[in-house]
Amino acid sequence: MEQVMHEAEGMGPAAGPDARGAAPAWRRRAGRLDAILAEAGRALRVLDGTVSHERANPAGPASADDPALSDAESRHAAGLMRVNHVGEICAQALYRGQALLCRDEGIRRVLLRAAEEEVDHLAWCRQRLDELHSRPSLLNPLWYAGSFGLGLVASRAGIPYNLGFMAETERQVEEHLDGHLNALPDHDRRSRRIVTRMRDDEIGHRTTAEDHGAAPLPAPVRGAMRLMSRIMTTTAYRI
Ligand SMILES: [Fe+2]
Ligand SMILES: [Fe+2]
Repeated sequence: MEQVMHEAEGMGPAAGPDARGAAPAWRRRAGRLDAILAEAGRALRVLDGTVSHERANPAGPASADDPALSDAESRHAAGLMRVNHVGEICAQALYRGQALLCRDEGIRRVLLRAAEEEVDHLAWCRQRLDELHSRPSLLNPLWYAGSFGLGLVASRAGIPYNLGFMAETERQVEEHLDGHLNALPDHDRRSRRIVTRMRDDEIGHRTTAEDHGAAPLPAPVRGAMRLMSRIMTTTAYRI
């Protein structure tokens, strides 16, 4: 009777498990649609800043003892923290895109765990931008969509390159954050505490990817990633 009903609904006899014991095609399609809708909802929460994060801001509570910044220093610090915020938007979207199509459950967990920590970074950068009376980049939806698409493409390159992509991303972010620690005003202790913790986490993400078998990426791919990063950092500082 149940089979008749499924056939009447256009699902045919494939509604039950197939000969290999796999889920029926309609159920796999429904599962994929659920995953895509869940990712769309997640993207909206990341972009509007309401995605929940786990760890407390390493800058700690604001205090009257925090050194005051001049207007020029505040603008400069805000530009750098906006760049960092965009970097976290990109990392978040990249890893979620890679995880969506990853068939290895262990590697999928590695990618999603890194993405969770990037959410903490995202929230800390956003909080610092608010403190500096500034705002996130207006181009964040574009950065998220582009990075998510890149993650989907990267996921088809196989597990070692997938992890290689993660390791190279983290390596470049690490260098970039080291540069920001030199560029931030010396007495902007709150931004410095955030960037230092982020840099330490990114080192952890890189070594995790390497420990799980990350393959070195070809030089042209590394170069293209650097070029994209340069475009992102230049535009995000202002827009
Ligand atoms: Fe991060
Ligand atoms: Fe990271």
